[in-house]
Amino acid sequence: MTLTPLLRSVLLVILLGMGASAIAEDGYRLWLRYDLMQDAAKRKEYSSLIKYFVVEKTSPTLEVAEKELSLALAGLLGLKTSSTKDVQESGAIVLGTSDTSPLIKSLNLQEKLKTLGDEGFYIVSTTIKGKKCIVITANKEVGVLYGAFHFIRLLQTQHSAQNLSLQHAPQVKHRILNHWDNLDRTVERGYAGFSLWDWHKLPDYIDPRYFDYARANASVGINGSVLTNVNSNAQILTEPYLRKVAAMANVFRPYGIKVYLTARFSAPVEIGGLTTADPTDAAVREWWKKKIDEIYTHVPDFGGFVVKANSEGQPGPQNYKRTHADGANMLADALAPHNGIVMWRAFVYDNAVPEDRAKQAYNEFKPLDGKFKSNVMVQVKNGPIDFQPREPFHPLFGAMPQTPINMEFQLTQEYLGQATNLVYLAPLFKECLDSDTYAKGKGSYVYKVIDGSLENHPLTGMAGVANIGNDRNWCGHPFAQSNWFSFGRLAWDPTLSSESIADEWIRMTYSNQQDVVSTLKQVMLASREITVRYMTPLGLHHIMGWDHHYGPGPWIKDKPRADWTSAYYHKADEAGIGFDRTKRGSDALGQYAPEIQQKYGSLENCPEEYLLWFHHVSWDRKMKSGRTLWDELCHLYYQGADSVKWMEKSWNALEGKVDADRFAQVKSLLAIQYKEAVWWRNSCVLYFQTFSKKEIPAGLEMPDRTLSYYESLQFPFAPGIRPKW
Ligand code: GCU
Repeated sequence: MTLTPLLRSVLLVILLGMGASAIAEDGYRLWLRYDLMQDAAKRKEYSSLIKYFVVEKTSPTLEVAEKELSLALAGLLGLKTSSTKDVQESGAIVLGTSDTSPLIKSLNLQEKLKTLGDEGFYIVSTTIKGKKCIVITANKEVGVLYGAFHFIRLLQTQHSAQNLSLQHAPQVKHRILNHWDNLDRTVERGYAGFSLWDWHKLPDYIDPRYFDYARANASVGINGSVLTNVNSNAQILTEPYLRKVAAMANVFRPYGIKVYLTARFSAPVEIGGLTTADPTDAAVREWWKKKIDEIYTHVPDFGGFVVKANSEGQPGPQNYKRTHADGANMLADALAPHNGIVMWRAFVYDNAVPEDRAKQAYNEFKPLDGKFKSNVMVQVKNGPIDFQPREPFHPLFGAMPQTPINMEFQLTQEYLGQATNLVYLAPLFKECLDSDTYAKGKGSYVYKVIDGSLENHPLTGMAGVANIGNDRNWCGHPFAQSNWFSFGRLAWDPTLSSESIADEWIRMTYSNQQDVVSTLKQVMLASREITVRYMTPLGLHHIMGWDHHYGPGPWIKDKPRADWTSAYYHKADEAGIGFDRTKRGSDALGQYAPEIQQKYGSLENCPEEYLLWFHHVSWDRKMKSGRTLWDELCHLYYQGADSVKWMEKSWNALEGKVDADRFAQVKSLLAIQYKEAVWWRNSCVLYFQTFSKKEIPAGLEMPDRTLSYYESLQFPFAPGIRPKW
């Protein structure tokens, strides 16, 4: 039926009359969807326990906690809650700290709260004045807010709310999103529209979306936001921008979120009128001190800086023959009186150095261990190259015992299918966090480096390069939201499992129906491995399209920098394929502990998923499956693409069980993902065949296009970089 404009508006009026839940589900609410719980028995159970709030003395943070709970209870249970200052009947949720609530103080919970720090919380079912109630408390108000979100999550995931006694505290201190947002609102490697930050209308106009952004972050414990791109612009440090930053900090503060900025190392020259940015120059030091003091007049709880220096053309201390430590310490000194911190990135590699790129960060930073001020963390990407679908953990984890190291994960899917592929990244994050560095013997897991427990560092952090833009659903792909969610959950507790995080997210975002939960969980948990198979199986890496990094490009060679090409990494020739990083080759393996060198250094013991990362291997080598390397490579590419078909089938079976809007959206995206998987498969198999000179194994469908067709494809519209046409 074609709808005339009139019919359309009549329909719209009817829909609006049916309430919000009947309107298109556009994904805006993320996992904070508070639709009426379908299970009437559960609703009754919860409603019998919860009737009203008791907040004796409020504050901006307690206010947002109470507001969120009211919103959730109204939506999930249809409850209209009110707030009082005393317990009158059973069914109170009592919110506060010992300082804000004499009722809570009278419960003498010091023992329980002792180990929970500034951000942990305690939720307990108890009685006050003989009336049953649920107390959500903490040492500081932000803990109460986290407790409120935890309580909401319990309801959304339909856990019992009876006899509660729950204590949780974050294992990592700084849990920070890194936005690679430019001041012109483009987002470097952003696949979800433009930047959320509306610099033009700030500070006077506050986009309501900033509040929802803060709610979403607080709901998973994210407590920091770096607003600007690591490839930074010094303008952000000028007064007009600082006033805008202050307005955002004011919005985020009640939610426990601090703002951070990226500091362009050459700012003293670019906006300060100096002739040098040498960190040992007195005038430069003074300039930064004044600038930082000025920032704190605008934002009294400013978090500090992330710095990308002497990396990919960015200015840095090495321009003046100084070290990374000299540069970081200069900023650290100026930030220290305000309790600010520096996150100095170790993502460095130099075109002039003919060294395996995988080794360069370690070579530059390891000698600086112990040379950084105590308010500096060295921010290290999970792997030694650059957020590839699979990398071994970065050798710097465990290698700088005297330096706090914070993790940098990439949530935006630069190398994992951008906005069109469903890839749940928690398994990738976990693979790294659970890797054993052997730095202090067996059990020296990466997560213990990150939570500070391995070397007793009080300063700890985890950064996630954000996948958020102004797309209505925030992250572009509806499932990309799960990567924002998992980052927050893992930064809070790196020992959580991918499975439990997926379980929570699905229930909160889609449905509690068992078949929906189990189908989506299977798809999500398999998705990263499937992507590895159709993109970079067996340890291949960095073979994507040039510059925009969209799609395959194993043929990329002869560019201004060798280490920006694919040929540099796969090293395919007639004899075989892979990068020899053993002693015979670049010896990047030598940067790891002996236990790892032993395991990965031998062709026999090296796990096959890392084989071509560490070894150059003959096409004829027999693999564990009994196939030759060539046949295995082909099989994995085909299996990967076939598995996307399985993902599609699994999703299609959920028609009618998830809302129609997101169903249709994900269905279209999975169809694109399949096309892209076949594109990767065909391009890579045809290209590597030019070296192996072997047939594609019998039984596998022959590519229907030629290699030169794939090589000729151009993508001027690829997202994530500034257009160049
Ligand atoms: C990658 C990415 C760049 C980014 C860089 C970084 O190389 O492609 O866009 O600037 O990482 O992390 O600094």
